[in-house]
Amino acid sequence: MKVKLLLTISIGLFLTACGNQQQQRDGQAIYYQSCVSCHERGHGGAPMRGDTKAWQERMEKGQAVLFRNLKDGYNTMPAKGACFDCSDKELELVLDYLINK
Ligand code: HEC
Repeated sequence: MKVKLLLTISIGLFLTACGNQQQQRDGQAIYYQSCVSCHERGHGGAPMRGDTKAWQERMEKGQAVLFRNLKDGYNTMPAKGACFDCSDKELELVLDYLINK
């Protein structure tokens, strides 16, 4: 009985800790966690961060289309840019970070 209670408490703490961490992520943090390996060097033809011309061309599709392609995956880019635990909100933040920089 006591063990079960302890277990419940530790699981609760564990979930709370994860929850807090999630809330602190901004676009930059997610970028360096998930997108940097491909988008910093143009790996596999990925448009690079800071390459204004490349992003301008992509932006002609509209940011909503870019967002959907990011979420669903696009050619060789994995769905959600490999940030599988990213929420829609977080994907929006990281997309802004990537195209505005
Ligand atoms: C495994 C490598 C890889 C990772 C990781 C990755 N991307 Fe990409 N991404 C690509 C490639 C390659 C393309 C270009 C695909 C093409 O045009 O054929 C691309 C294209 C894009 C596009 C343009 C889509 C369009 O419609 O033109 C956006 C936006 C994007 N990535 C955002 C992100 C974000 C944000 C992350 C991180 C959360 C991310 N990517 C992670 C490889 C990656």
